[in-house]
Amino acid sequence: MIDFIGRLHPLLVHLPIGILMIGLLLFWRSKWRGVNTDKATTFVFLMASVAAMLSCVSGYLLSTSSDEYGSLVIDHRNAAILLTVVSSVFWWLLVRQFQPLLQLILSLIILALLVVTGHQGGTLTHGESFLWRNDRVVDAEIPVIKDIENALVYKDIVAPVLSQKCVSCHGPNKQKGKLRLDGQEWILKGGKSGATIVAGNIDASEIIKRIVLPPNDEDHMPPKEKGQLSTQQVKLIQWWVQKGASFSASVQELAPDAVIQPALNALMQMAGTEVAVSAALPEVEAAPDSAITVLKSKGVIVIPIAQGSNLLNVNFINCTAISDSVLTALKAIAPQLYWLKAEGPLVKDELVEAIGNAKHLKRLSLSGSGITQKSQQVLKRMTQLKQINLYETLIEEKKKTDTTKLF
Ligand code: HEC
Repeated sequence: MIDFIGRLHPLLVHLPIGILMIGLLLFWRSKWRGVNTDKATTFVFLMASVAAMLSCVSGYLLSTSSDEYGSLVIDHRNAAILLTVVSSVFWWLLVRQFQPLLQLILSLIILALLVVTGHQGGTLTHGESFLWRNDRVVDAEIPVIKDIENALVYKDIVAPVLSQKCVSCHGPNKQKGKLRLDGQEWILKGGKSGATIVAGNIDASEIIKRIVLPPNDEDHMPPKEKGQLSTQQVKLIQWWVQKGASFSASVQELAPDAVIQPALNALMQMAGTEVAVSAALPEVEAAPDSAITVLKSKGVIVIPIAQGSNLLNVNFINCTAISDSVLTALKAIAPQLYWLKAEGPLVKDELVEAIGNAKHLKRLSLSGSGITQKSQQVLKRMTQLKQINLYETLIEEKKKTDTTKLF
């Protein structure tokens, strides 16, 4: 029953709003025109005061039945109580026919309070961006990270995710579970069930427990009908908490290992790498679209090296199978290759063979790949290479014993 009265609040509030407006208009008209409508005006304000009181009661019940007690709810409550008190005083002045100047001033105050309270209520039910739709708030994007090593883990990586996926319910306007996630102070304060993050302990951190639960679990965050975190975002937040949940450390300071590095790299690469080009880039014709489409469909990242250039930066980091069609496509774009990162055991001699005629390839990383001596011959011919990484490959092991320089 109490819940029911509370839920009537959004309906009930229209009564005092409407009645107060009519009362104010009657009052001003009688002042302006000298028309005597005092009796009617007094009665209207009596009704308005009663309706305002009912709204206050229902609003109070609504606020206690939900756990959103944000600062806006408190401001709204205070403004509504003030409005009710002022309209009752105003009614009393009308009954007594007291203080005409004070009456006029109070009528203006009532109008102002009505606008403020109504706007706060509207913001609570429809959200901040309803009236003045602020598209930047609605589709806030994860910012581009250009220099991942020096990026700040909380500010540049974690906070943007929380603000995009969590703050609508855990922010200034709503605090579901009595939790805010829009700033260090709030995150550390925690929610209803206590510590939201326990530095260095992902199993004890409520925030991690919730985001890794299966989406159908009712405690899963964000709730399943809302925009979900990507696997990568979950990994990054876990990593941040695991490493001590610092609010000031840079990526470099947290010493990323090989497990988290791909997720970090992707933040930079997915956003499109803009390269500061000192030397003029060689002109090449555009790579065939069909080949790029094939590569992308297999998870290979293919992005132009710089705006307006046909040269490509290609990364196999998310590619889970290097099939013949991938190799054929890679061969087709070899003339446009500028940077290539093809790391890990899936990468075999066939891939190196496919890039044999990559005339503009400057940087190549094949670290951890399964290439053999066969590739060494091909690589030797690629004299244009400025940088090559053969860390943890058979060729490197050979190099250690055999002092002949590869390049
Ligand atoms: C659509 C609204 C909504 C969104 C979006 C949302 N949550 Fe929640 N969250 C809730 C509700 C409702 C509760 C309280 C329910 C409960 O206690 O089970 C809650 C509770 C929590 C709690 C427990 C608080 C406590 O101390 O009891 C954590 C932690 C949490 N959310 C984290 C997150 C994170 C992290 C995100 C973003 C990835 C997120 N939430 C996004 C609605 C939301």
